[in-house]
Amino acid sequence: MRSLIDIKELSLKELDSLIDTALDIIENPQKYSEKCKGKKLATLFFEPSTRTRLSFEAAMYELGGNVLGFSEASSSSSAKGESVADTAKMISCYADIIAMRHPKEGAPLVASMNATIPVVNAGDGGHNHPTQTLADLLTIKRKKGRFNNLTIGLCGDLKFGRTVHSLIAAMSRYEGVKFVLISPEELRIPSYVKTDVLDKCGIEYVETKDLCGAMPELDILYMTRIQKERFFNEEDYLRLKDSYILDPQKLENAKKDLCIMHPLPRVNEISVKVDSDPRACYFEQALNGKYMRMALILMLLGIK
Ligand code: NCD
Repeated sequence: MRSLIDIKELSLKELDSLIDTALDIIENPQKYSEKCKGKKLATLFFEPSTRTRLSFEAAMYELGGNVLGFSEASSSSSAKGESVADTAKMISCYADIIAMRHPKEGAPLVASMNATIPVVNAGDGGHNHPTQTLADLLTIKRKKGRFNNLTIGLCGDLKFGRTVHSLIAAMSRYEGVKFVLISPEELRIPSYVKTDVLDKCGIEYVETKDLCGAMPELDILYMTRIQKERFFNEEDYLRLKDSYILDPQKLENAKKDLCIMHPLPRVNEISVKVDSDPRACYFEQALNGKYMRMALILMLLGIK
């Protein structure tokens, strides 16, 4: 029985195989429509979500399975003081696989150590978000056709943005990848990501505050929301929230085949004027998340 807590648990070969499955699902959806018949996915969301929870649910329905769960902590027994470990043991009696989002870093790991069914980390605090990375990887594959030799700009809240941490971990395993880490001073990438991932993999990276200066060399620009819910005080959030707003003018010096990504939800970081630019990939990225979650559910349930 296998869970997915951190993207690095998947080998490059397994990632390729998930991408191949997702591409086959896109081509032949009817082939998959009953693969999970009789199976149940439990979505345990202790934090707000639109895309992740609903794309997990849509994924399971499109595989012919069923879904149960809750979308806020206040409607679950955690409000009565139940531990994550106990919740995981209980849900193992009701479902075949769990997708869990939790504000505490490490909560899905604790769940996976106590559940008798696979647990998928659907975002744990400011730490990791491996299934968003699966959506990101399929988007990069479909847009760029490769993972090697890409210069990737990550812009916004690199400190608390869990999608950024997981994407760096995944992309650092490919050849010729370079990161440009664009953020305000206070929201720079955590030092553990630098030492445990970037330095360990010998990845080239620069840190800068200057989005426009970095623009011309980027193959991918990954914008992120300032993570309001992780701030200790409102004042800091208000000061930093509009640090970067991508608009058509800022894209003037960008490559013609730049791929503009965002895990969404967007607040202010990308002007809606950019949405009609053919380089904007963020809504497709959300759709790709559903296909990759379908592929992942099949893999973790051992369904061919
Ligand atoms: C992200 C998250 O929850 O970390 N959203 C998502 O799952 N697509 C990004 C965010 O909330 O900013």
